[in-house]
Amino acid sequence: MLVNKPGSNGREKFILALDVSDTASAVQLANMTKDYVGVFKIGLQLFLKEGKQIVREVAAFGNPIFLDLKLHDIPATVHNAILSLQDLPLAFLTVHTAGGKEMLTAARKAAEQFENPPVLLGVTVMTSIDDKNAVGTGLQGKISEVVMKRVKLIEEAGIEGVVTSGLEVKELRRKFGSKLKYVIPGIRHFDDKQLDQKRTVTPALALQNGADYLVVGRPVSLAEAPGAAARKLLEEINYALN
Ligand code: C5P
Repeated sequence: MLVNKPGSNGREKFILALDVSDTASAVQLANMTKDYVGVFKIGLQLFLKEGKQIVREVAAFGNPIFLDLKLHDIPATVHNAILSLQDLPLAFLTVHTAGGKEMLTAARKAAEQFENPPVLLGVTVMTSIDDKNAVGTGLQGKISEVVMKRVKLIEEAGIEGVVTSGLEVKELRRKFGSKLKYVIPGIRHFDDKQLDQKRTVTPALALQNGADYLVVGRPVSLAEAPGAAARKLLEEINYALN
């Protein structure tokens, strides 16, 4: 099975979240943005509605596919769930670090069995959570400290990448070095609507702090002209990299 693989220029760092309701809307959004975006991300909304077929439909555009399921369960269940995805052309797949080191290790072992293993990414703490609304979730201490502990689990489990806020990536690179891939959602311009996101940064700051990839959803998908919004973001990413 052919898997579209990511590269390293500005476009390839740009991950677009196809958070739309069905195949027709996803194909339309992919069509408008495919020339500016590196990777297409398929999340829970689209995957649960359309199933595995949506991955194949979007992969036909030629861009690498990121399946964002944030798997979090007992180690055996996550292991077997990942094995169930072996027939899909995945470049990236997410698991949630709250599942612990044993679960992350089980996830890695399952991914290693793929003909073309996806890069596994461990989600640290959702970017929609900040220190204030973390109170009540049972998280102990500051979010930035929780993130550090969870990235340690990622490192120990031998997982390749981290999904976290652009606010933490500089310190993570300092502490864990450059062997991990840093994937940053919660990307917002100062005049963008925050919506439900809390730990946000601008595209330029995320890159300056050491992001390998930026995940952008609604600033593009809800724009009046998604193609133009994606093109502008790509120009901004390229400008920040040069
Ligand atoms: O629309 P917006 O730019 O906020 O979309 C961010 C995307 O990144 C969503 O698809 C969301 O599921 C995903 N994500 C996130 N925070 C994480 C991990 C993934 O926002 N920690």
